[in-house]
Amino acid sequence: MDLGLTDRIAFVAGASSGLGRAAAAELAREGSRVALCSRSETRIADAATAIADDAGVDPDRLLPLACDVTDEAQIEQAIDHTVDHFGGLNILLTNAGGPPSGSIDDFDADDWRDAVELNLMSTINLCRHALPHLREAAAEDNGLARILMVTSVSAKQPIPNLDLSNTARAGVQGFAKSLANEVGPEGITVNTLLPGYTRTERLKDLAETIQARTGQSYDAVEADWAEANALKRIGTTDEFAAAVAFLASQRAAYITGVALPVDGGRVKHVL
Ligand SMILES: NC(=O)c1ccc[n+]([C@@H]2O[C@H](COP(=O)([O-])OP(=O)(O)OC[C@H]3O[C@@H](n4cnc5c(N)ncnc54)[C@H](OP(=O)(O)O)[C@@H]3O)[C@@H](O)[C@H]2O)c1
Repeated sequence: MDLGLTDRIAFVAGASSGLGRAAAAELAREGSRVALCSRSETRIADAATAIADDAGVDPDRLLPLACDVTDEAQIEQAIDHTVDHFGGLNILLTNAGGPPSGSIDDFDADDWRDAVELNLMSTINLCRHALPHLREAAAEDNGLARILMVTSVSAKQPIPNLDLSNTARAGVQGFAKSLANEVGPEGITVNTLLPGYTRTERLKDLAETIQARTGQSYDAVEADWAEANALKRIGTTDEFAAAVAFLASQRAAYITGVALPVDGGRVKHVL
């Protein structure tokens, strides 16, 4: 299937590792030019080099940028830099790290604010600054304008001891659905991807927290997670990235306002 991603321009946040990095690599493999950011200049530059090698693409098709997505000024600068460098913007993937695990008695008001800044406000600000450019892209002949947001299955079914994530992700879902209705008439689609347990650095951190609490081995923690999924295993970053590429594609033109779990069948709701 031709996804129609050749020479499209993407901005992928939180891309030095894990889901964001895999998404940036998949979009590059599909022929897009990709700006990718994380907080660390070194980590994101290394990721861009590795992606170019793995995907077999010219390193000039990747633009690594240092940007902390909790800082609106840095977002504005990174989006402007992308548009100046590549000449426009077709695809925005919002993403960042996850907040610490814990429940109501573990956090003070600043912890809650930090989680909202990291996962909700970053998403809103990335969209606000990308939108003028996405509107231009949508208005072009054969235009393509996509907003994709990485949230979590915890938005559909809260995960015990992940209160900060459960709360901030639900806010993103409300924002995404509102935005999909508002920018739909302009031809911009807005969808969220809800990863289930997928093998990344973030997952290792979560496993270590559980290991410290329960004394289980890493394998036992992973086996518990796998058991709750219809497919009885946890996911890979490539499987997540394939869903990103499809929702970013020309072929997904009639899909908007959707919250897509990429979770091996963890969420058990009928709808
Ligand atoms: N993996 C899973 O099983 C899973 C499941 C459900 C939800 N999620 C969520 O999906 C998102 C990505 O998870 P992941 O597993 O890919 O995590 P990860 O491997 O820890 O990667 C997180 C990425 O975000 C970057 N980052 C963190 N804070 C940032 C900030 N303030 N500004 C810019 N970049 C930032 C990190 O790079 P630097 O450190 O270089 O900045 C890194 O590239 C997280 O929100 C996570 O909670 C993951």
